[in-house]
Amino acid sequence: MWLAAKLASPASRIWILVREGRPVAQARYDRINQFAEIGYSVSRSSRGNGLGTSLLKATVPLACRALGVPRVVGLVKVGNSASARSFDRAGFRRVGQTSRQGHACLQFEWVDRTESWRGPPKLSPQ
Ligand SMILES: CC(C)(COP(=O)(O)OP(=O)(O)OC[C@H]1O[C@@H](n2cnc3c(N)ncnc32)[C@H](O)[C@@H]1OP(=O)(O)O)[C@@H](O)C(=O)NCCC(=O)NCCS
Repeated sequence: MWLAAKLASPASRIWILVREGRPVAQARYDRINQFAEIGYSVSRSSRGNGLGTSLLKATVPLACRALGVPRVVGLVKVGNSASARSFDRAGFRRVGQTSRQGHACLQFEWVDRTESWRGPPKLSPQ
């Protein structure tokens, strides 16, 4: 099953935001070479309250560290203003335009310049 494979894959991480016992948002990161691509959503009844933006801000550094990549890419269908705005607000940069499954998409990028994506420094043997 697709979800079981994603959950088991070392190249993917999924965060689910739970409020009052209910899942209200999810963010999934898939590692592709030296970057991760994000897909995320907020349940319809919870949209417009800042959750999309907060979810990106909270999970992007965790995903970089968990997947060992310094860069996250998000593709947003042209016209999806809420998502484009969420990426803007979360500190992503618009780096270009591309096409995905026949849809024109804006490409957003976030780069971890702190090196924290590498994880804690390894102690070298004495
Ligand atoms: C995209 C999505 C995750 C945004 O989640 P959200 O919790 O509603 O986002 P936020 O509340 O953080 O809003 C982010 C910004 O978008 C704006 N916004 C929200 N809905 C909007 C809309 N329909 N049109 C234009 N702007 C909108 C908000 O005002 C906010 O901007 P501001 O901070 O300047 O006020 C949500 O709409 C969603 O799940 N959409 C369907 C799935 C999807 O498109 N996923 C992303 C694929 S790339």
